[in-house]
Amino acid sequence: MCASLQKGARLASRLRPNRTLRLGALFARDNYVPICEAVDAAIEALKSSCGIGYIFWFCMPSATENGPYDYTRSGNPTRDVLESLLAKLDKADRAFCFTSGMAALAAVAHLVGTGEEIVAGDDIYGGSDRLLSQVIPKTGVMVKRINTTDLDEVASAIGPRTKLVWLESPTNPRQQISDIRKIAEIAHAHAALVLVDNSIMSPVLSQPLELGADIVMHSATKFIAGHSDVMAGVLAVKGERLYLLHSYPNLPPEGWPYMDKIVLCCKDI
Ligand SMILES: Cc1ncc(COP(=O)(O)O)c(C=O)c1O
Repeated sequence: MCASLQKGARLASRLRPNRTLRLGALFARDNYVPICEAVDAAIEALKSSCGIGYIFWFCMPSATENGPYDYTRSGNPTRDVLESLLAKLDKADRAFCFTSGMAALAAVAHLVGTGEEIVAGDDIYGGSDRLLSQVIPKTGVMVKRINTTDLDEVASAIGPRTKLVWLESPTNPRQQISDIRKIAEIAHAHAALVLVDNSIMSPVLSQPLELGADIVMHSATKFIAGHSDVMAGVLAVKGERLYLLHSYPNLPPEGWPYMDKIVLCCKDI
């Protein structure tokens, strides 16, 4: 084994769940092969041990090709560890983490374009209420507010322009329960997506994706983190078409969580 791999293996052997590894490297592979091999070995170890690493820069295959990671704000192995844990909890195809619950909800709102419509519950968290009533309409998106506990009202509200049905069950603040399965059936008949803000329940008590929802959101600030030591958000999704929720054009850079939050969330879970 060459010296660089031995170094990677040494780093790897120190990684245990919840152990921290610090690395910093920004090198074109051709020029810095030993360091790049060590970094790669450590990343693999990090993933397989579910360890927690502060890795800020990564090796590129060459000066003109990108690898799986390029800069830590847009993706890093520690975030991958957290997101795969979150996807398992929600029985999702993939999960994405955000700097807050509101940042996660704002990313979902980007799925709806000018002239299209969001049908949303009328009893929801105050921040979501303000996003829907004061911010989103400025982008030309129509927002219709309804009582989602009333399936007749849901059925008559959803129409050809509806792209997203947004609900909480139970709601914050009134703890009202909606029939997620039936609402998903009605929405899907109109090719609309269903978003369930599941912050009140956590994935332990409710798994809306299993009931037909397309996107589940958590204010991880609540039960995902659980120790009141972090503010973060999660989107867990079914279906590849929603992977774009993680892509750059959909999200302002401040929407992605920084490493300390990710590490805290991993530890809290
Ligand atoms: C139901 C619900 N959704 C969303 C949020 C917003 O999450 P965050 O505070 O993590 O931005 C909250 C916050 O209290 C909430 O209660």
